[in-house]
Amino acid sequence: MAIEIRATGRAIPSTRLSNDDLAKTLDTNDEWIRSHTGIKARHIADASTACSDLALEAARQALAMAITQEGAQEKTIADAALTLDMIILGTATPDYHGCPSTACIVQDKLGARNAFAMDITAGCTGFIYGLETAVALLAHVPSRKRALVIGSEILSRFIDWNDRKSCVLFGDGAGAVLLEKTSNEPKKRGILGTILEADGSGAEYLIMRQGGSRHAFKAGDAIKAPPVIEMNGQGVYNFAVKSVTETIEKLLAETNLTIDEVHWIIPHQANRRILAAAGKRMGIPEERFFLNLEEYANTSAASIPIALDELNRGGKLQKGDIIMTVGFGAGLTSGGNIIVW
Ligand code: UT7
Repeated sequence: MAIEIRATGRAIPSTRLSNDDLAKTLDTNDEWIRSHTGIKARHIADASTACSDLALEAARQALAMAITQEGAQEKTIADAALTLDMIILGTATPDYHGCPSTACIVQDKLGARNAFAMDITAGCTGFIYGLETAVALLAHVPSRKRALVIGSEILSRFIDWNDRKSCVLFGDGAGAVLLEKTSNEPKKRGILGTILEADGSGAEYLIMRQGGSRHAFKAGDAIKAPPVIEMNGQGVYNFAVKSVTETIEKLLAETNLTIDEVHWIIPHQANRRILAAAGKRMGIPEERFFLNLEEYANTSAASIPIALDELNRGGKLQKGDIIMTVGFGAGLTSGGNIIVW
């Protein structure tokens, strides 16, 4: 038995905000942002779009791809949606605080009546956590065959747009993958290994403080104080460099691979400098990391599935390619997957 990625999808809002656009209202400039992060632009959802809307679009794209593939039995997206056993959605910016889950909203709109659905809160590592959760839940019950794993974020709504140290980093978007349990040999196709880690002692480094049970809104003050992302940039930076390095080492050890056997390293798209620093420590040239943060900035849990879809639709992935994902983020959390395409 193998658990394979059958299809991918993504949703990127059409409104593009370049560094120069930002510099019109904020004390920043294109040169600083590019040299400190590698980011040139980000895409921002319009006011009527919520996290589930982007997730739904990415999910539909993935199912639309699946029904055009050789051997596909379903003819429509609606038929394909009925084959789903679960929807797992990683996000830090859900439609609603607490409940219902954004995954349940997507399940309804997609018409995935046979799927159970839940959100995963693991910051920017949400997709990696979600993928491993889906793999385990598929493997556990013989009758389960298909899972949709989504990362979706509307970070622009939870950013302090006056805080130049954080607001320049983030963007909106969603990515989705359709996972399927097949009879192929496990070592030859699909998810080969996963590392998941957490260090809650760093919870304060990346936090949306207000609105939860620790700092609940009082009647009347919700509009005055929407929860915003507070970040200790240097703290996250140091954690990220260390965790990227350690995750790569552990993934290679777990799967008995060398870095030269890996065709694609898809990191969480946070900051080019983080990857350059981790790469330098390990002797991995920066060019080996696939990056699209220039255009989309940091879309948190969505960044890895967006990158996967970009590579997939761009025809860059060949059967048998070994893909490594590496992520880190709020929690603090970190982890990665090895996937044989
Ligand atoms: O998914 C995880 C999400 N979080 C991250 O990935 C964050 C990780 N951390 C980082 O990427 C980096 O720490 C940042 C990019 C956030 C900041 O880079 P830095 O090199 O650590 O800059 P800094 O915070 O030490 O600031 C250096 C200077 C300061 O000016 P002074 O005090 O030296 O005069 C800042 O005020 O740069 C200034 N600065 C800016 N200037 C123009 C900070 N942000 C900006 C900005 N534009 N946007």
